[in-house]
Order: sequence, then structure tokens, then C-alpha cells
Amino acid sequence: MMLKTTRRIVIAGVLAMGLGSPAMAQGFPTKPLIMIVPFAAGGPSDLIARLLAENMGRTLGQQIVIENVAGAGGTAGAKRLLNAEADGYTLLIHHLALAAAPALYDNLGYDTKTAFAPIGLVNTGPMVVTGKSALSAADGKAFFAFAKTQSDKMTVAHAGVGSNSHLCAVLMSQALGVKFTQVAYRGTGPAMNDLVSGQVDVLCDQSTTAVPQIEGGKIKAFAVTSPDRLDVLKDTPTAREIGVSLDMTIWHGLYAPKGTPAAVLDKLNDALKTALRDKTIGERFKAVGTSTFPEADWTREAHQKRLLAEIDKWAVAMKAAGQAPQAAK
Ligand code: MLT
Repeated sequence: MMLKTTRRIVIAGVLAMGLGSPAMAQGFPTKPLIMIVPFAAGGPSDLIARLLAENMGRTLGQQIVIENVAGAGGTAGAKRLLNAEADGYTLLIHHLALAAAPALYDNLGYDTKTAFAPIGLVNTGPMVVTGKSALSAADGKAFFAFAKTQSDKMTVAHAGVGSNSHLCAVLMSQALGVKFTQVAYRGTGPAMNDLVSGQVDVLCDQSTTAVPQIEGGKIKAFAVTSPDRLDVLKDTPTAREIGVSLDMTIWHGLYAPKGTPAAVLDKLNDALKTALRDKTIGERFKAVGTSTFPEADWTREAHQKRLLAEIDKWAVAMKAAGQAPQAAK
């Protein structure tokens, strides 16, 4: 009885201190954190996560360990976060696939609009349509002309339904009015390996991991999906320049479980901002054609706003592309 009363007093005391109070966040973190990457190692999300984790870990004074939870176009990793404690020790880096998933999966089991606590936006950039070096097309114009007649014989790799590379393949099919044979991987890291070795024909990947392979002469670059050419790929035209309506801008954001105390989220947002201001990270981003958002958009609120807007945007886009929701496996 006495023990119960003491316990009640302690709990009441903790509540009175305010679970989301800055005082509580002062001690955070006292142990290593986990950053879930919802795709395979070696891909663009993994690359961005490792850059962030190293820098944010230094700021927070604790190591941030990367955990690759790949599968079902990034939804397996998102589910891993849903089941984590809301204490700020488990984070998820994800990209616009989180927003596109409700349009493509009918059994997510969560409401993307409210299930996660956004910490902040990370990077934004285009996709690059690339092909294996043995493809006969020498440039984007020749490739799209070839794809219009040979699409059924062409294999297009992607990182699972709803991933950036899959969405890009869907938009490309729609723009050309053709169907490709799709090959799904657990991330574009392994998909890119197979493109380099010539086992698949085409991959529309984020510039982050496409640029180094193009610069190394391992694959062909046909078009970028941005309104303007990339500084680091000056010779590669935009899809629009060669008459193909293929526009796509990707973005990554960092998330904690819903219910994480506000003061902890603020501390994580501060650490993220420090990483985004870092000169080395800025240079690494620039070298692969990606960039941070304008500083005004580094808030938790701006991230939430973008997530909501993108959920609506991809619902319309996928309907227009004739994509029916399916079960996540
Ligand atoms: C990855 O890291 O594999 C990518 O972000 C996958 C994709 O969305 O295409």
C-alpha cells in the first residue's frame, strides 16, 4: 500500500515536470540512437542517412546507428518506426515514398497524415533516367524514341512499389504511353549494381547515387527530371527539353514516433539544422546534385506541411497514372 502511494507520488511528480519540458530534453540523449533507413544499404537514402547520422551524433554526443529495414517500397521501415518507443531514440529517414504509399497500398494499417512526428526536411533533388552502358541509344532523345517502340523488351529496375525509382518509372511510362517490364529490388543500391553489370536495362535513380556512376562512365545518363539541367550533369538534358513530360523532385525528411515529447523533437531538429549548415555536408550534397531546403523550411511545421501536401499530390498523380492500390507484402 505504502509502495503504491510512493509510486503514485513519483509519477505525479514526473507529470508535473511536464513530459515535453525543455528540462526533460536537457538530459537527452543518454544512450545511442537508431536511424532506420527503409531501403537497402548503398542506396541514396542510406547515403544521406549516414552523412546525417555522423554529424547529428557528434552534436548530440551519442552515436546514431543505421538500421536498414528494407521492403515493400519503404513501408516496412515506416512500420518499424510505428512500433518504436516514442522517446526520441528511434528515428526514421524517409522520402516522398512515405507520402505516396497511401495511394499505392490498401493495407498500410496507419494514417500517414498523423502516424509520425516530423523532425525536419533534409534534402531535395531530381531523378536521373539512366541506362546500362551496352544500350545502343547514345543520348536521351534516342533513348526515349527507342523506348517508345521497344519498351516491352526493356527491363526497368526500381526499389519497390511506391519508391522514388518506381514512381519515376510509372511517370515515364505515362509520359511515353508505354509499359515497361519492371524488376523490383529492396533499394536502388542493389538495383544500381545490376544496372552497372548490365543485368537490367534502365533505372531512374536519385541524382545522389546516379551522378557518381555516370561520372565514372559505368552507366549512360539520358535525362534529368528537374526543370533545369544539373550543374554536375551539364551535358544531360532535362526530360522536358527533349519533349518528354517527366517532372519529379524528391525529398527526404527525418521522423520520430508520434507522441515523442516536443522538447525532444526540438532538440533533434536543432541537431538536424546543425548538420544542414555543415560545410562538408553542403559540399557532398552539391557534388551529387542534391541540396538542402531554404532555411525557412527547416522547421518541424514546414516538414509536416510538405508531408500533407505531398500525400494529396501523389494521390492525384497515381490515380491519373492508372495505379490501383495493392496490398503491401
Ligand atoms: C534507396 O535508398 O534505395 C532509394 O531511396 C530507393 C528509391 O526510392 O528509389
